[in-house]
This record gives sequence, structure tokens and C-alpha cells, in this order.
Amino acid sequence: MGAQCGNHIDVDLAAVDHFRHLEHLGRGHATAGHHLGLEPHLLLFGSPPQRAVGNLLLDELVGAEVHFIPPGPIAAEACTFEELDAYVREEASKRVGTHYHVPLGGSNGLGSVGYLRAALEIEEQAKSARIEDAWVVVATGSGGTLAGLVAGLRHIGSSLRLIGIDVASIWTSYPELVARIANDALELLGMPSIVEPADVSLIERTYVGRGYAVPTGDGTAAIKRLVRSEGLVLDPTYTGKAFAGLLDLHA
Ligand SMILES: Cc1ncc(COP(=O)(O)O)c(C=O)c1O
Repeated sequence: MGAQCGNHIDVDLAAVDHFRHLEHLGRGHATAGHHLGLEPHLLLFGSPPQRAVGNLLLDELVGAEVHFIPPGPIAAEACTFEELDAYVREEASKRVGTHYHVPLGGSNGLGSVGYLRAALEIEEQAKSARIEDAWVVVATGSGGTLAGLVAGLRHIGSSLRLIGIDVASIWTSYPELVARIANDALELLGMPSIVEPADVSLIERTYVGRGYAVPTGDGTAAIKRLVRSEGLVLDPTYTGKAFAGLLDLHA
């Protein structure tokens, strides 16, 4: 890869005012890029703040070059992953030149292989705890996490029921996107494509609130409930909103 690409590019989701939780992923790629001798670039949606703090400061510390780009297709109510990806690729080519592209959220077949393997671990742990009839509830943003899990659980014919709680509300044709990534991951591992859009259980646009990374009342209440009862701290962008969904499923 390094031989073909003078630069390494990574794509992440950021907002105008608050740098989004997803940035930890970009930073991970940036660090890995350095190890591979590649130059990491992060493309963030929005405009630069006056001063780099929080995630953005860490991005600078790990040596990533950060580019702020207009939101493009995600400024509309929803777009397809392909539309957004094509836009970001073009912006990246203009700013960086030849590069290796990691899509939003690392959501492609390769990025989902780890979650496919995680599904096998979940099944193993559920079996050893004698759990068969249960929900696996996962926060879903760009879609790759859910895609890997659905691929893995379907591949082994698990009795666990998987459901994604949408925390971003950016995609049209979301189940189709998740099924495509799931099948790409299976194909990479030499396994047949078995995931149909109808296999993707997803609660869309219910727990997002005003948007990605904007805390919701339900999410905050769910976070408080879990930390007060179990001492487990969730985050307001992903797991808090997903836990709000889980509580409703359980009610
Ligand atoms: C805790 C957590 N859950 C779920 C997700 C959703 O991931 P995806 O963008 O693959 O849908 C993320 C993404 O960063 C996350 O941090």
C-alpha cells in the first residue's frame, strides 16, 4: 500500500462546533499510518475552531494533518454512503493527491472483518453463559459495526437477535448499505454472501434527537440509570442513545 500511495488519508465525521466522538477512530488510523511510514490526513466536516482542544489537539499531537471540508451531501437531510464517499474522495484528491482512502467510520468490508470476528466471540460468551434467546443491541452510525456483527451472527446461524440503534440519521437506504458491507466482509474471508437488507434490524431516526453527537434527554437518562445502578459509564454519542433504545425494547 505504502509503495502506491504517497499519502494516507482518513475520513472522519466532525461537526462545526463540537468535534465528534468518532475522531478517536481517525486518530487510531493516523497512528497506524505513521507506523507504516504513511502521512496521515484527516478530513473533518465543518470549519476550524479558534483553538485546537480535546480530540483535535490529540489529532495534532499524533501528527495528523487535519483538513476541514464543507459538509457536502450530508448537509442535506440524508444521502447515500456512496454519494458521501465520492464527495470525500474528490475533496481528498484535491487536497492530498494520491492517497489510500479509509471511508467514513472505516465502514467497508475490510473494516467490518473485526466485528465479524467479534460476533463469534459474542456467540461463544453467550453460549458459555447459557444465553440463547437475547437481543444484542448496538449503536450504529456509519454502519460498519452492525454490518460485521450481522455477517458473523448469520454466518454461524446464531439464535441471538441483533438490532442497531441509529445514532446519526445520515443515510438513505441504510439496511441496503449494511447488507452490502456485511457481504463484502464475508467475501473477503472467502465466505458466501448471505445477508439481505431484510436481515438488518435497525431502529432508524428514533433515538438520534437533534443529530449525531448531540445529547438527548433519553440518552442522558439512560446513562444516569446505568452508572447509578452498575457503575458503568456510557457515552452520549453512541452507547447512551443505544442504551435508551435497549431500555425501551426491554420495557
Ligand atoms: C461505542 C460505539 N458504538 C458503535 C459505533 C458505531 O460504529 P459505526 O460507525 O461502525 O456504525 C461506534 C463508532 O465509533 C462506537 O464508538
